[in-house]
Amino acid sequence: MELLNREVCRVGLTAIDPSASSLPLEVNTRPGLSQIQWVAILEHDVLPHDKARDLIYNACYAYQAHPIDARRLDILLDSALGMASLHEAPPIPTLSCPDDDYHMVGESPVMQQLYRTIHKVAAAEAPVLITGESGTGKELTAHAIHAHSSRRHGPFNVVNCGALPSGLIQSELFGHEKGAFTGANQRKIGIIESSQGGTLFLDEIGDLPLDMQVNLLRFLENLKVFRVGGLQEIPVDVRVLAATHVNLEKAVDKGEFREDLYHRLNVLQVRTPALREHPEDIEPLARFFFQKFSAEKPSRVRGFSRDCTVVIRQHPWPGNIRELVNRVRRSMVMCEHRLITPSDMGLERRHRLSRDTDTLQQVRDMAESDAIRAALARNKHKVLHAARELGISRVTLYRLLEKHCIDKNGGSDDGETHDPSTSRFVQLTST
Ligand SMILES: Nc1ncnc2c1ncn2[C@@H]1O[C@H](COP(=O)(O)OP(=O)(O)OP(=O)(O)O)[C@@H](O)[C@H]1O
Ligand SMILES: [Mg+2]
Repeated sequence: MELLNREVCRVGLTAIDPSASSLPLEVNTRPGLSQIQWVAILEHDVLPHDKARDLIYNACYAYQAHPIDARRLDILLDSALGMASLHEAPPIPTLSCPDDDYHMVGESPVMQQLYRTIHKVAAAEAPVLITGESGTGKELTAHAIHAHSSRRHGPFNVVNCGALPSGLIQSELFGHEKGAFTGANQRKIGIIESSQGGTLFLDEIGDLPLDMQVNLLRFLENLKVFRVGGLQEIPVDVRVLAATHVNLEKAVDKGEFREDLYHRLNVLQVRTPALREHPEDIEPLARFFFQKFSAEKPSRVRGFSRDCTVVIRQHPWPGNIRELVNRVRRSMVMCEHRLITPSDMGLERRHRLSRDTDTLQQVRDMAESDAIRAALARNKHKVLHAARELGISRVTLYRLLEKHCIDKNGGSDDGETHDPSTSRFVQLTST
């Protein structure tokens, strides 16, 4: 056990007695050790015992009964080592980051392009606008820009512009002086000022109310803040990154977003690709999350079944990488075997594998359902916005949600049986 703490072991030699029904539990459940190839040594009288036989059959690569022939054992161990190296998955390609939680995985051309762009914009000081569908890694990208910039030793602060309570936005961002308003019992440093020397990430910038957009623009122009109730401007050395999943140009056209602020933020642009644009990365990403979660909580599960790797490539992933993270996490809880099956990931009901036998109508239905799920995910499950994007009325979208048994709030749970009598969207359709 001590050795296992210090070193990666690919082959293990274990002595099995007649009562043994499992290998030491810790060995089996310790993260990273599930690929060990075991060679058992035993007395001949062990073999008639069912439990021990099952154990050897299920958990061991080979066995040798006493008396031990060292030369034969040596050959067995060598061959087990060969098998262990076959089991080893190829390394997962990443954009590394000092903090393990921020590694970016993916080696496809679109991800390599993204890494190159991240490196380029990290070397600059101008604001960056990060665009991309929900769950594609916008926040991760913002962090990578910070981590590869000269500001990496400074703070990285995140503001979710859509989640700030409207009455407090001004003081949250810019801070306030003591007595600036009722309840301001002491001075508060705003998040912009506390990002001094670092990076400020304004997430969901499209949700920033118009009046705050003016204040933000003023700050971006002179990089100075006025605390609420303050008399002097305070210079802040901060780099601003912003992200949005809505089309800001359209928001500008509709008068919902200030054009001058848009141009000020949009000096450099980074787009995070949807997962369906780089399907070759789905499997490495799934393996990456699997290893990450196994390291957090030891699991007996060893990996994905072959069926599962086929099905995950065919799933449209409307919720992108966030959906993949959630499905891998769920599958590791649900899995009752050594390998994760499509049903553990909640993916079996789409019958993607038999697609070549589908009728044209089935293919159309599947495409319609995929497009709706993707539009809902892109629009944070706001039906009105999704309907607008799809070019249909809200009522029609509700009808289609019902037809495809899609839950508008979690669109990707694959057609859970749905009772129309309790559905909110049915009531809306009929009004
Ligand atoms: N390339 C990647 N490699 C590894 N993990 C990733 C990658 N891209 C995204 N993730 C993970 O996917 C999840 C979603 O990423 P993130 O929060 O950055 O997406 P987002 O675009 O900001 O989503 P949203 O629009 O919903 O806010 C996170 O857990 C993140 O760590
Ligand atoms: Mg985000």
